[in-house]
Amino acid sequence: EALASAARTIRDADEIVALTGAGVSTASGIPDFRGEDGLWQQYDPADFHVDRFRADPAGYWDQHLDLYDEFFDGDVAPNAAHDALSDLEAAGHLDTLVTQNIDGLHAEAGSDSVVRLHGTAANTVCQSCRERYDVEPILERARDGDVPPTCDECDGTLKPDTVLFGERLPERALMRSQAAARSADVFLAIGSSLTVEPAASLPRTAADRGATLVIVNLDETPLTDRAAHDFRADVTDVVPRLRDAIVGD
Ligand code: OAD
Ligand code: ZN
Repeated sequence: EALASAARTIRDADEIVALTGAGVSTASGIPDFRGEDGLWQQYDPADFHVDRFRADPAGYWDQHLDLYDEFFDGDVAPNAAHDALSDLEAAGHLDTLVTQNIDGLHAEAGSDSVVRLHGTAANTVCQSCRERYDVEPILERARDGDVPPTCDECDGTLKPDTVLFGERLPERALMRSQAAARSADVFLAIGSSLTVEPAASLPRTAADRGATLVIVNLDETPLTDRAAHDFRADVTDVVPRLRDAIVGD
């Protein structure tokens, strides 16, 4: 059936690229943005705009401390979808894993070829000299009221090393992901609403160049019509079953 057919396509392909979104991490307890229990139910997207950070870095840090405490409190772990993607890579059936997620769970699950399009929550970066610092000690300082935390080198303002609306994506990550999309034979879009550019243009680029598009997402996406295989289901169900069908268990 549908799953076996998608698995065959993936197994027979040369260049396989995946793009993941917040939907791969909801089963790990991290909310997505636009899903049923997404952050946009609770937060104003404008709070995630770089203009907001620049206008009020202290207020931004205060609000985001709550997010860190609620969702990155140490017992967040990869789920079956992260594990299955890591297994696919290890078995030679996934060449590049582009993620919009900042949670580090793909690397924790053992994936090596991860391209982080939207940065990482594990670091902070000085807005003046670009020096980077581990987030943990900075969070400690911020919890003690030192907001916004500042750079030891130049006293510039520190920002989480994640991409906000209105910011450029990390150049190398963007280049790598675009090159991967152009050379993909199969492109898997997993747990993303495919609504935020330029990430959403990756599967479109791949499909335009003839790649077979496989989508796994609870909701319909703007690219669903172009998918050869469309799984409107939970990633923690579909991705492990795809892995089992491709590499055997
Ligand atoms: P979204 O929240 O836009 O989309 C997540 C999608 O995953 C939704 O369509 C959900 O229905 C679906 N979903 C949730 N849990 C699922 C599950 N267990 N199984 C299958 N599907 C599930 O998240 P992204 O597409 O990642 O950017 O959002 C893109 C960007 O928007 C984010 O990286 C972030 C945000 O603004 C920045 O912060 C720059
Ligand atoms: Zn600095």
